[in-house]
Amino acid sequence: MRSVTYSSTGGPEVLSMMDRPVPECGANEVRVRILVSGVNPTDWKSRAGDGPGQPTAFPVMVPNQDGSGVVDAVGADVPGLRPGDRVWVWEAAYERAEGTAQEYVVLPARQVVPLPDAASFDLGASLGIPALTAHRCLTVMQGRPERLDPGSLHGACVLVIGGAGAVGNATIQLARWAGARVVATVSSPEKADLARRAGAHEVVDYIADDWVDAIRRAAPDGVDLIVEVAPVMNAVHYPALLAPNATVSIYAFGGGADFTFPVQSHFGTNTRIQFVLVYTVPPSAKDAAVADVRAAVEAGALRVGAEHGLPLHRFPLDQAAAAHAAVESGAVGKVVIDTA
Ligand SMILES: NC(=O)c1ccc[n+]([C@@H]2O[C@H](COP(=O)([O-])OP(=O)(O)OC[C@H]3O[C@@H](n4cnc5c(N)ncnc54)[C@H](OP(=O)(O)O)[C@@H]3O)[C@@H](O)[C@H]2O)c1
Repeated sequence: MRSVTYSSTGGPEVLSMMDRPVPECGANEVRVRILVSGVNPTDWKSRAGDGPGQPTAFPVMVPNQDGSGVVDAVGADVPGLRPGDRVWVWEAAYERAEGTAQEYVVLPARQVVPLPDAASFDLGASLGIPALTAHRCLTVMQGRPERLDPGSLHGACVLVIGGAGAVGNATIQLARWAGARVVATVSSPEKADLARRAGAHEVVDYIADDWVDAIRRAAPDGVDLIVEVAPVMNAVHYPALLAPNATVSIYAFGGGADFTFPVQSHFGTNTRIQFVLVYTVPPSAKDAAVADVRAAVEAGALRVGAEHGLPLHRFPLDQAAAAHAAVESGAVGKVVIDTA
């Protein structure tokens, strides 16, 4: 089979094609014929490591956490999946050598999830990192359930920073499915259009507008949750934005390692600050996220494509380096690799 591999850290040029045997499938494992591999920022960051020329965690590594395809073989003790089933997979390359930028991957059955006929393989390859991160961000709110379903966020106002990003897009769609009112920020009119297509009720261009003022007008009582990609830029504004007993879910740095935080005002409002790293979410919460995202997909509530705020950018497997470079340079939308 054809695999994209790397054996030392560095730029996209460290990726090369290898011909390798199709892997065997053991007990509690599923072999998936990958059709679409999704690329996330975490994939190029893992490949880049702390700098070029460093040894990788495994002698040969295949990048990319997310993907979709068809079950090719099923090991012993795997209920509920059969060869030919359409599936999406998550965290294929987390603490493992074998990601999805190849024709076949063997994974623990827990990481292989049925994909309904009505859902595209592109959607399946876009779920893992973005949707599971979004789910965690939306289910750590004070006074709200740890599960998402229609109505679970009814009455809540959610502010999504970076509503045209992949995580931002998934957050808007899941929050809308759960019944929240959604306000999003973006940095351009084009991104504003994407955030609206994802389903945001109100979109604020933080370059063009006095964005804090604009959000106060859109949510006069304050927002109940901020889903944050850029705390370094924004933390100073939280007291002006948050309702009492609100939550801030932080899933990225946004241009720096430290931020200044106005402590005193948050005591009065009992603000909860929750950091989110999708890989280390407690296993029970991760299982809940997978189940809820699966339900949202089955309900048709999660979608991809420009018409849903997430334009697709396609690359063939032998151009995986260009796909990584596109994500690294800030492609707007979702970068996917056709592995077949
Ligand atoms: N903690 C986790 O588990 C987790 C999970 C997934 C992703 N991430 C991280 O979250 C970030 C976004 O991931 P993604 O897949 O959504 O990427 P993406 O599709 O490239 O979107 C990034 C979005 O972030 C917004 N943004 C706002 N301020 C930013 C800043 N200072 N620097 C960079 N972007 C800024 C941009 O929107 P505007 O131009 O409109 O501002 C952009 O649309 C990445 O750094 C990624 O590594 C973390």
